[in-house]
This record gives sequence, C-alpha cells and structure tokens, in this order.
Amino acid sequence: MALRHLLSIEETEDADVRLIMETARSFQDVIGRPVKKVPALRGRTVVTLFYEASTRTRTSFELAAKYLSADAVNIAVAQSSVTKGESLKDTVRTLEAVTADCVVMRHSSSGAPHLAAGMLGIPVINAGDGRHEHPTQALLDAVTIWDAWAPGLGKKVGVDAPDFSGLRVAIVGDVAHSRVARSNAWLLSRLGAEVRFVGPTTLMPADASLLPATVHSDLRAGIEGAHVVMVLRLQTERQEAGLLPTAREYSRIWGVNRSALAAAHPDALVMHPGPMNRGVEIAPDVADGLAGHASAIETQVRNGVAVRMACLYLLMGSAAGDVL
Ligand code: NCD
Repeated sequence: MALRHLLSIEETEDADVRLIMETARSFQDVIGRPVKKVPALRGRTVVTLFYEASTRTRTSFELAAKYLSADAVNIAVAQSSVTKGESLKDTVRTLEAVTADCVVMRHSSSGAPHLAAGMLGIPVINAGDGRHEHPTQALLDAVTIWDAWAPGLGKKVGVDAPDFSGLRVAIVGDVAHSRVARSNAWLLSRLGAEVRFVGPTTLMPADASLLPATVHSDLRAGIEGAHVVMVLRLQTERQEAGLLPTAREYSRIWGVNRSALAAAHPDALVMHPGPMNRGVEIAPDVADGLAGHASAIETQVRNGVAVRMACLYLLMGSAAGDVL
C-alpha cells in the first residue's frame, strides 16, 4: 500500500481505498470464526489516543489489534498528563518513545492527526478529527453497502470490485458538524454513487458546494428513490446555539420515521454511524429494522472491526506472511 498514514479519504488514493475494502472482506471471515486470532501483527503495539468520547470506534480498533495478535493500549486522556497541560506534540512523541508501532487518534480539532503524523515515524490513523473526516467509518459504511443487495440495480453493487454506479445515497441530518458525512461523500461518490446531503439549511456545511454531493432542504425530496438512507446524530457538542428551535421540533420535521422512509426505494437500507438518539433523528422502529426497511446499524459496527483490522494490517505490515 502506498499509504503511510490513514488521515482522510480525500487524500487517499483510489487503489488504497479499494485494497482496504477488499482486505476487510477477508477479515470478515476471520471475525466470524470461533477463534478470531491471526498472528499477523504479533509483537507489535497499537496505542489508541482518544481526546473525545467513543464506544464503537475505540473498542473496534482495540479488538482489531487484538485479533491480529498485536498488543493494544488505550490512553484515557482524562487521566493522562494531558490534564497537567501536556501538549499534543509531547504526548504523541512520548507514545513513540515508549515504542508504540501505530497511533490511532481521535481529536476535537480538525487536522490534529495530520499534525501528529508530521511528527511521528510510525503510522497514524485518524479515528475522527473535529468535523473534518472519519475515514474508517466511511470505509466500514462502504463495505456494508458493498455487501448489501441493491435490488433496484438488479445486481450486487460490484461483486468483485466495489462499483456503486447507479446507487443513490441520502445522508440525512446534521451534515455541517459531521465528519462521517464528509468522509462518506468523498468515498461513496468516488465509488460511483450519487450522494445527497439532506437537512435543514442551518445544518448544511458552508462549503457544501466544494463537496461531491447535492444539497436538499426537503426531507422527502432528498430521500426520494434512495437506495441507502444514512441518518446522522445531532452533534450538539459541536453546534453553536441557535441552529435549531428544539430537538422535538427537529424530530417532527427531520426525524427519519416510517412515513418519511416511504419516499425511499422500497428496498432501501437504513444506516446510522451511532451513537443514536432514538426518537430524535431516527424513529426506534426504523433503527431496529421494524418499519419495512432493513437496518444495517449492527452490521456497520461489526464491519468496523474488519475494516480496522485491514487498516492496521496494511499500515503496520505483516511479519508473518500470508496468515489469512
Ligand atoms: C461518529 C463520530 O464520532 O464521528 N460516531 C462513530 O464514530 N461511530 C458519529 C457521531 O458521533 O455522531
């Protein structure tokens, strides 16, 4: 793989994106086995450094490292020397000095993993930086879509290599604050899909015209005929005041419920990166796949482990040869 770090989808070459997705597919088999460990990264160490809350992303990186036989160490930032005023630079340099082989980093500032990558001789993986990008989330979403049947297209979407041409993907909700939306727009459009951002004007990115997506400010029109409806959380931790009247009103107008989904393709797949606010951006029966459309939300989480195994494996190299 040409890549030394995985910092954004926008900067990642086509060939590397495809290689990660294809490698993730072979790891899907590994995590389906009763014994999930392969010796690929034995003796190597992955450090996860999360300056923001996380359940899925952090756990799946840790499990991915462990399933590859690497050691995984998590830095609990709230209990680390960061609280004593240590800079990002000194923190990441310390990780290299204690002989970590890869750093997985989440930060509230866009660009923080780029900064770390510039200072380190070991691979850095961006696990979400501010509202900028979340490359592994987009990759796991793309693998999930790749696996899913797209009935309107009359075929699996590119059985051998991912080819999403003809696929309509509606990304609904708080796009402005969503790194997931940005990474997905870059990735899914690159694979051939038509990407639509759907949401209130106050929650659309100011630079939407620079992103490979069309903007829709009417929920039903935006969802119309979509093969995939990807719902986003209202990211209040990144919102300035005054963007929305109330969560209740948001839910009434923008919540993805059974009636809104009626506009989508009859076999549309519902996705959400989690964590969900049930009853706000997504109705509980939609989230649970009980509203007439399949929900891929748990499959996304599971594919997260396989995708992160692929990223660690490809970036850290294998000393053990072909171990799949
Ligand atoms: C997302 C994130 O942190 O960007 N969650 C995730 O990684 N699964 C989305 C979110 O927080 O809403």
